[in-house]
Amino acid sequence: MDNDIEEVLYDQASIQQAAQRLGKQITEDYAGERPLFLSVLKGAYLWTADLIREVDLYAELEFIKISSYHGGVASTDEITLVTDIRSDVQNRDVIILEDIVDTGQSLLFMKELLAKRGARSIKVATLLDKKEGRKVEVTADYIGFDVRNQFVVGYGLDYKDFYRNLPYVGILKKEVYTK
Ligand code: PRP
Ligand code: MN
Ligand code: MG
Repeated sequence: MDNDIEEVLYDQASIQQAAQRLGKQITEDYAGERPLFLSVLKGAYLWTADLIREVDLYAELEFIKISSYHGGVASTDEITLVTDIRSDVQNRDVIILEDIVDTGQSLLFMKELLAKRGARSIKVATLLDKKEGRKVEVTADYIGFDVRNQFVVGYGLDYKDFYRNLPYVGILKKEVYTK
């Protein structure tokens, strides 16, 4: 698997540091509150585990599953709600957890869904922010790292559902997805 990687961008230690930095910030920002963390599967599962352990608050955790890439290297315009949450988000302070914000379409979908359901506040904590990829105007509030417009995998991020288990974020070799 490592052979398919062009370059390692963020190893486990630097991701851990990012989790600590953002976890501390969230803990301060939400002091006295009980936010609902909403982790977006599948990509955000590892980042969620790291970040949530750095948050010293009475926090709830829910998982929602949506899909936009449908396995490929480019986002599609169609977002599918694969598995919904059961808990009520009305009047809740929600923090969406994402592994990456690229075109922004998944995030916009999530934000609109939560707003429609009456969330009191909606913020976003993402491991990676690929600002160059934006097609819709949406921003993250807590950002681990800014990444350039290249295809990255690992640490939850996939190509055709593989590479999620790499313990780092790296650039996938072009030859892997162009053949
Ligand atoms: C990926 C990623 C984000 C989203 C970002 O998920 O995990 O959720 O795409 O892309 P966007 O900003 O262009 O919408 P994907 O749809 O691949 O599903 P997955 O998390 O199950 O891999
Ligand atoms: Mn995802
Ligand atoms: Mg994916």
